[in-house]
Amino acid sequence: MKIAIAGTGYVGLVTGVCMAYHHHHVTCVDVDTEKIGLMRQGIPPIFEPGLTELMAESSDNLEFTSDYKEAYRDAEVIFIGVGTPEKKDGSANLSHVFEVVRQIAETVEHDCVIVVKSTVPIGTNDKVEKALRDNLVHPVKINVVSNPEFLAQGSAVHDTLHASRIVIGAEEKEAGEIIQRVYEKFDAPKLLTNRRSAEMIKYASNDFLALKISYINEIANLCEIVGADIEDVAKGMGYDGRIGSKFLNAGIGYGGSCFPKDTKALHWLGNYYDYEIKTVKAAIEANENQKLKIIKKAHKYYESFSGLTVAVLGLTFKPGTDDLREAPSLVSIPILLDDGAKVKVWDPAGSRNFQKIYPVEIVYCDMIEEALKGADLCLIFTEWEEVKFLQADDFKMHMKKPVVIDGRNCYSLDTFENTGVLYDSIGRRTVK
Ligand SMILES: NC(=O)c1ccc[n+]([C@@H]2O[C@H](COP(=O)([O-])OP(=O)(O)OC[C@H]3O[C@@H](n4cnc5c(N)ncnc54)[C@H](O)[C@@H]3O)[C@@H](O)[C@H]2O)c1
Repeated sequence: MKIAIAGTGYVGLVTGVCMAYHHHHVTCVDVDTEKIGLMRQGIPPIFEPGLTELMAESSDNLEFTSDYKEAYRDAEVIFIGVGTPEKKDGSANLSHVFEVVRQIAETVEHDCVIVVKSTVPIGTNDKVEKALRDNLVHPVKINVVSNPEFLAQGSAVHDTLHASRIVIGAEEKEAGEIIQRVYEKFDAPKLLTNRRSAEMIKYASNDFLALKISYINEIANLCEIVGADIEDVAKGMGYDGRIGSKFLNAGIGYGGSCFPKDTKALHWLGNYYDYEIKTVKAAIEANENQKLKIIKKAHKYYESFSGLTVAVLGLTFKPGTDDLREAPSLVSIPILLDDGAKVKVWDPAGSRNFQKIYPVEIVYCDMIEEALKGADLCLIFTEWEEVKFLQADDFKMHMKKPVVIDGRNCYSLDTFENTGVLYDSIGRRTVK
């Protein structure tokens, strides 16, 4: 099938590449000409395991352009995968989506199905369809289908090729069937529903996961107070099939481009209809507090950070991505800098993006040892494999004062027992 994809971020590009891999002819469109230039050379502008290889393997079926007219004119299906960031009031900013809608209306010359893959508030697909029909330049038949995306950054290619589910929300049977055909070769359960339910499935899923994280984080905080161990508590909970063992890792809060904005957007939407979703509100508040946890812990050992050398291991909101959006490191590092600390960071993927925000204030290290050297304090923000691999001796050997605060519970407490390293983690006793 001839497919066009608007937006080549984590969702658009990975979708495009996987569609091409399954023999559709795909044209990816982006307004960012620098990204297009890179992709034309076979270089993905984002870091995702397996993406470069799959792009190369599927290159015969893949094109990249910033000329939307060329891509949309005769496409049979157009996916919209542009960003829907958060507005100041917490609602979703749909300006990119409606800009693409305007471009499609102006351009399409054949009947086609428009698929909204971006995460959009319930009811948006109806507005997209109306805006398209009201503004079509050529007399063609268009239908809008909601097809929310559930991939996780860091495993986006795998999650797309082997999706947990493919949700297709259509108001017209024929349009739904066309999208089912697009996904024919994708091995995943397919759920056909109406558009509003599809839109709701996306928010309800993400917000449930955010709730689960905030819940285990609050239980972890209480574990510290009452002397329980969150790792054992989570394990004990996870044996119960109704709870499940995933997403029970206590830490310093969720980040990324989805959970923070999708919780706020659903909460905003509820309020808009005069129905406050109290559970989601609680998850948002708990997460804001949790992001400050590592700094609060650090203050137990140092009243001020002025004059200290602080080693930061990991910047991204999770391993396997270069994405810094809403990462807890972005909350804590400015506090360290404002207080006058010398900050040395190590991150195998996120440093380049962090350097765009802090070009000179921070020392960027290629090796973990370099970051630890002479440090008075080590803060772990991301559970990269390289970090999990470290031993007590690595901290002891390189740091001036081996005080380690682990925001992701990378090690067992035994690792630090009787080593002289002070190890403080989340929801567990401190090893001194
Ligand atoms: N990132 C994720 O893990 C994830 C997972 C599921 C769903 N989503 C949702 O998918 C959507 C996209 O997220 P993302 O992380 O891929 O976004 P992103 O910010 O990484 O990429 C969006 C891309 O769209 C491009 N763009 C903006 N306007 C355009 C236009 N008019 N025409 C063509 N391209 C345009 C931007 O230049 C950018 O490259 C969001 O709604 C997000 O909530 C994201």
